[in-house]
Formats: sequence, structure tokens, C-alpha cells
Amino acid sequence: MRAHTDGQISYSGLSARSAKRLMTKQFREAQVSFPEEDAMELILAATGMSRTDLTLDGQALLEPEDANKLSNFEAQRLSGEPIDSILGWREFYGRRFKVTKDVLSPRADTELLVQCGLKALSEKMVPTCLDLGTGSGAILISILSECKDATGLGVDISEDALSIARKNARDLGVINRAGFIRSEWYGSVMGKYDLIVSNPPYITDKAMKELEPEVIQYDPDISLRGGPDGLEAYRAILSESATYLKPGGYIWVEIGYDQAEAVHSLFVQNDFVDIDVRKDLSGQNRCVGGKNLS
Ligand SMILES: C[S@@+](CC[C@H](N)C(=O)[O-])C[C@H]1O[C@@H](n2cnc3c(N)ncnc32)[C@H](O)[C@@H]1O
Repeated sequence: MRAHTDGQISYSGLSARSAKRLMTKQFREAQVSFPEEDAMELILAATGMSRTDLTLDGQALLEPEDANKLSNFEAQRLSGEPIDSILGWREFYGRRFKVTKDVLSPRADTELLVQCGLKALSEKMVPTCLDLGTGSGAILISILSECKDATGLGVDISEDALSIARKNARDLGVINRAGFIRSEWYGSVMGKYDLIVSNPPYITDKAMKELEPEVIQYDPDISLRGGPDGLEAYRAILSESATYLKPGGYIWVEIGYDQAEAVHSLFVQNDFVDIDVRKDLSGQNRCVGGKNLS
């Protein structure tokens, strides 16, 4: 064991490749869920290397500063801090989004919602998009980045989240086509949109008690809690959506793996047509969408 006097592992004098092996071993012993992937992420972030650099040039010795960073990163991860929180960013739909304790880290599963939204906009001339509960802005910003003619509005109940979303929109070059306002769902929203997207809070009160400690500690409660049956936000969003959708406009929402039937019924009750449920890559029902006729 290579230990500093403060008990942290020292990575000085090691190559990046050996550091990755050592860190993976540490994480495995500590039962970190994805030991090798996490070690890889932290080594790439500390050294600025790409995956290819690490494969081709991984035998070069670490700079002392990078070795220090690695020791600190490792201590943070071993104390239960998630990778996104350690690094301050998360990759989503091929782009890097700043994340903090004030926003939910966008999940890979949510990329399906972006795909559904983009398909819905594909036939519109100058598409407009409303993202309810925008958080880091990941969904809206990805849609605007992929669809260069589109403009959009992201709303959230949290001002702190909106500051992060605005920064991400600036950094990713879409701020001239994106607005961000504080609103409780449609409360301060004006106008009509071709597309509404939302990944609202959908965890039931019962499931909240069973969440991983990392999620409870590092993701904001307001981004998770969906009420007793997890459906409160869907009811609020779907019951008023017709007022904010153009005729022929679509709404797509992300759902929990066991909510397809209940959310599908809400779409039926609210007179949507062409209702569709889409599965994610692991085969779970993940998004429900429908078209507004009125
Ligand atoms: C599950 S997070 C989704 C964040 C982001 N869209 C994503 O997919 O990564 C839900 C978001 O809804 C916001 N939110 C919760 N209740 C809200 C409300 N009543 N009105 C507007 N936004 C709300 C939370 O602040 C949070 O940012």
C-alpha cells in the first residue's frame, strides 16, 4: 500500500496505466459499483489525457500535480461522492454539461427523450420547444444544439438550477436561441410551442426511502420527489398542456420503468392522439409522447 502521511494513497512516481490499475483495485476493495470505469474517468480528468492517449502513451510517469489530484479524487470517491460531483460536469448527448449540487446530473437514459423530441420537431419549419423542469438545461440545450433552426424556453422552480442552465447554454453556444425563466410548471409561461418535453420528478414517496445514499445526498430532493404515487407532476403537466401546444404539437415525457400504463392513461384522459411508449436501451419503458389535435 502506497500511503501519504494523511492516509491517502500516493500516486507519485507511477505511470497513468499503473495508477489506473491501483485505483481500480482500491475501488474494487471498497465495493465501488463501477471500479474500472470510475478509475478511468478520474485518471482522464486528472491528467487531461484522452482514452487513446492512455492506451498509446499510458506508460509515461504522472506529473506530480496530476498525481496529487488523483489522490484527492480517490479520497472523494471513496467517501461516497459521485464522479459528476467530483468533476463538476457530466457528459450528455455528446456534450459536457456543468453540474452542481443544485441540479440533477443528466442521466444517459434521458438521451432517449432528446431523440423523441428531435423526431417530433423534424417536420417543423422554425420549431419552438418548451422544457419543463429544465435543471442543468441538458434536454433543451441538446435539442437546440442538434436542431439549428429551433428556439426554446427552459423553466424550473429553482433559480439555482436556472443559473447552471444559462451557463451551460452560453458555454455550448445556444444562449441566443434559449430563454430560461423561473416558473412552477406553466405558471409564468406564455405562448404556444411545437414541442413540450419534460423529465419531471417521478419517484414515489415509498421509493424515495429506498434510494441509494449517493442519490439522496447529491441529487436535489425537488428533482426527484413525485408525490405519493409519483404521478403528481405528470397530472399538472398534461392537464394544461393543450393551452401551450400548437395544433399538431407534441409532448414527450420521461417516466419511471413502471409508470408507462399510468402515464399512458393520463395522455388518453387529456385527449392526446398518436400516443406512443418508447423503451430505452436496457428494454425498460422510458418515454411517453402524444400529439395535440386541439
Ligand atoms: C428530474 S429533474 C430533471 C432535470 C433535467 N431536465 C434532466 O433531465 O436532467 C426535475 C426538475 O424539475 C424541477 N421542478 C420540480 N418541481 C417543479 C415545478 N413545480 N415547476 C418547475 N420545475 C420543477 C426540479 O427543480 C428539477 O430541476
